[in-house]
Amino acid sequence: MCAEWYKDLSDEEVAAAIENVRGRLGDAVTILGHHYQRDEVIEFADYRGDSLGLSRRAAQAEKARYIVFCGVYFMAETAAILCKPDQQVVQPVMEALCPLARMASAAQAKQAWSALTGMWGDDVVPVTYQNSVGELKAFVGQRGGAVCTSSNAQNLFAWGLERKDHVLFMPDEHLGTNTALAMGVPKEEIGVWDPTNPPDPQALASCRIIVWKGHCSVHTGFTVEDVENVRDDYPEALVVVHPECRHEVVAVSDATGSTAGILEYVDKAPVGSTIAVGTEWHFVNRLQHKYRNKNVLPLQRRECRDMAMTRMRDLLNVLESLERGDPQNKVSVEEETARGASVALERMLEVS
Ligand code: 13P
Repeated sequence: MCAEWYKDLSDEEVAAAIENVRGRLGDAVTILGHHYQRDEVIEFADYRGDSLGLSRRAAQAEKARYIVFCGVYFMAETAAILCKPDQQVVQPVMEALCPLARMASAAQAKQAWSALTGMWGDDVVPVTYQNSVGELKAFVGQRGGAVCTSSNAQNLFAWGLERKDHVLFMPDEHLGTNTALAMGVPKEEIGVWDPTNPPDPQALASCRIIVWKGHCSVHTGFTVEDVENVRDDYPEALVVVHPECRHEVVAVSDATGSTAGILEYVDKAPVGSTIAVGTEWHFVNRLQHKYRNKNVLPLQRRECRDMAMTRMRDLLNVLESLERGDPQNKVSVEEETARGASVALERMLEVS
């Protein structure tokens, strides 16, 4: 957490201090910010984006000695895996995690994998959502699989199904189900693996896609009733939701997209239109302010607690530590994990 003395500074003083230290660091630092970050943080990002865009940026940020990642841990960890060996990733608040990413461990994946390969032999490919721990990405990379994000999940599922007849997708049940259904996989061919109560693999024998029973509690909180309520008030409203929402919500919406996809959807919507957005509130609030010639509404005000942890004082704190040459909150990944995970991540970047 940030140093005590910043608490006596006004927000304006903190903002000026961030600009000053950043100016002194120059090209040595690049700040990446996920769309869900607070305004007070994202305004300092050199690049803001969705998970895929930020991964690409981390892999391309060649000049910067330091990458300051404002987001949650799995994102910073991904950046640390993709950046060059002489670069250092730091995260302003190390406690900012993603509960979904922690719903699948490599040990649990191993159990599912041995049950499924026991039944299908090697005719199954593992795919993990970027919202996962590094060890799971490594597990997937070592078994011929790949990472995906919400913006390229269909490409990676198609990539998997070109190679094998079955895909094991971890750890988000809803993104997996929405992706498979959007690709025309029948419902009966989508099975669920519950790691806390593993099924008899034979019950999944006729499935092509196995989705892990994990979820994002921000997105699974949106309901069909939310969509109906908006349409009661605004019959012409367009509804766009993140694909981590439950399928019943996606089914009654007009569109789904990653955060970058949602931004593009709102950007392209006609002037004067009402667009209800089902994703994290700080981002929706920013869209409301950016597109004042449209009526942008949150489908419900749902905040991601972890994304909101990072404040401008935390950013100043890590930047000052970089200037002192004593980086705080370094994100480092154990070598073998990094090697396996980078294989899975590079496959994603090649495919998308
Ligand atoms: P995006 O890839 O859409 O930015 O998603 C990130 C995320 O964690 C959604 O909960």
